[in-house]
Amino acid sequence: MSDFEPFYDVNRTYDENYADGPFGAFATALREEPGTPAGAAEDAAAPDKARESFLGFDVNLPFGIPAGPLLNSRFTTAAFRMGFDLAVYKTVRSRAWGCNPFPNVLAVHPKAANGELAPGSAELDEGVLADTNYQLPISISNSFGVPSRDPDVWQPDMRDAIAAAGPGQLLVPSFQGSRVEGMSREDYIADHVRTARLVCETGAGLMEMNTSCPNEGHNRLLCHDAHLVGEITEAVKNEIGDRPLIVKLAYLPDDLDVERMVRETAARGTVQGFATINTISAKLVDAQGNQALPGEGRERSGVCGAAIRSAGLDMVRRLAAVRERMGLDFAIVGVGGVIEPGDYAAYRTAGADAVMSATGAMWDANLAREIKASLE
Ligand SMILES: Cc1cc2nc3c(=O)[nH]c(=O)nc-3n(C[C@H](O)[C@H](O)[C@H](O)COP(=O)(O)O)c2cc1C
Repeated sequence: MSDFEPFYDVNRTYDENYADGPFGAFATALREEPGTPAGAAEDAAAPDKARESFLGFDVNLPFGIPAGPLLNSRFTTAAFRMGFDLAVYKTVRSRAWGCNPFPNVLAVHPKAANGELAPGSAELDEGVLADTNYQLPISISNSFGVPSRDPDVWQPDMRDAIAAAGPGQLLVPSFQGSRVEGMSREDYIADHVRTARLVCETGAGLMEMNTSCPNEGHNRLLCHDAHLVGEITEAVKNEIGDRPLIVKLAYLPDDLDVERMVRETAARGTVQGFATINTISAKLVDAQGNQALPGEGRERSGVCGAAIRSAGLDMVRRLAAVRERMGLDFAIVGVGGVIEPGDYAAYRTAGADAVMSATGAMWDANLAREIKASLE
């Protein structure tokens, strides 16, 4: 795989990627069509193809790249040009926020023959081998700490990202609250509202709120507190009005927790969709059994890619069952281990209204085109 260049280059720092990326086929797509309305080539190729509706927006194919690898408008524009009709702009905050030290990505190698890491398996706590030997089907770990530029930087850039969507394409901004020392519960809720307002100011027609990273401190996820997510989404929804709000969820093993989350949010009309799953936390070790990622607080890190596909499908199926049982109609965005066209189909069958791939798309820039070809 030495001659292949993922659009996010894992061998460079986050800042280098932000300044010089995207790379590989995404860089070529940006260079080759200067000034062309993004997506025009795709659209011209199939002018009368049927579109689908996603949260009230027309999309060519409800497939794209979730929050994370698309760092700024150059990445999102390249994604549109490569036929990813949904592009999520990497999670932003109300203030500038630093990135964890390099390296931020490692390849992971689960022991199971099928390469899966089942939620709850002993391997997650005993240690999963992590190194720089990237192999297909790709599974990685990412450890960034959700860095953000200052709003003065990301707001104009997000505006450009929105403007670059072609016909049948949609830019989805992602944001999250920032917990800082001394903040009260009210301050924390207000920080979410303030960030949502800043996103609205860019002209966004919808947004995604991340509750699935360790934003509550080391290994603590906001989505484990459904009541607080309910309070926050109520306040955010008051701010953003009719714009649909998607909540990004981690894998929740217990059906009761899934149901509680839906009751506190979508059932009360504060949330119109859920995107799930985020990474699955695992202890990462090198070949000698030592901590793989350098530095304090990095013994565990989130695994994504092929290893978490079954967990993602399982979460989507259970969320769809809750939707059915409660007679609700919120949208589900299926994420986790989408590597090839069959995975897109599997998520749609499981109940997803849209599907996204982060790791799979990083290692296969043509994934959206391959899925479209498979559906013809
Ligand atoms: C490089 C990278 C950065 C990520 N950053 C974020 C982020 O900022 N916010 C977020 O909600 N999820 C983030 N994620 C998680 C993805 O959106 C997705 O939920 C997860 O990677 C599982 O999908 P996958 O198996 O297709 O990679 C990131 C993932 C990757 C690979």
